[in-house]
Amino acid sequence: MSLIHQGFTLWLTGMSGAGKSTISGALMERFHAARAKVELLDGDIVRTNLSQGLGFNREDRDTNIRRIGFVSELLSRNGIIVVVAAISPYRATREEVRSKISNFVEVHVDCPIEVLAARDVKGLYKKALAGEVGNFTGISDPYEPPVNPDVLVRTDLESLEESVNKVWSVLADRGLITTE
Ligand code: ADX
Repeated sequence: MSLIHQGFTLWLTGMSGAGKSTISGALMERFHAARAKVELLDGDIVRTNLSQGLGFNREDRDTNIRRIGFVSELLSRNGIIVVVAAISPYRATREEVRSKISNFVEVHVDCPIEVLAARDVKGLYKKALAGEVGNFTGISDPYEPPVNPDVLVRTDLESLEESVNKVWSVLADRGLITTE
């Protein structure tokens, strides 16, 4: 299968453990299989490189998101697909980034917090609830969900494949990808 595509930024926002990295990884596999030009900017990886030293107060999160947005704009305007997986909890900051990128698709990776706290893949919810990690999104720090995301996926109700297919369909409907 070969894919004709435009440059665009596919921005996955959602709380820690909701499935942003998992869905991004599956999307990356599909893009690679179709020989697309694609890059992944994952919050955890960006924070060990481009954003090393930043914390989780509002100012630092906003700086992190603006940096990711800046790189995304450079790449996507040059025809690259950029997949972003970052909590990006503040609506205004996401909107600011969106306003600077021509082809921007926002995906809300949603899951109820009770389910996230029960899954607790990284053990961070337990620590946050015990007060050992401060400014933790959804516990001691805000998460402002998108009001009108381009795609809404519910990872407690859908399979990984269903979520990935939803995203893929929206990209195809918008004419950002065309399968030959
Ligand atoms: S963002 O808010 O700036 O977009 P980002 O996605 O880069 O966050 O990083 C989130 C990751 O950092 C989480 O997946 C988690 O592993 C880790 N983390 C550590 N401390 C916190 C915290 N206080 N709140 C949220 N995530 C945290």
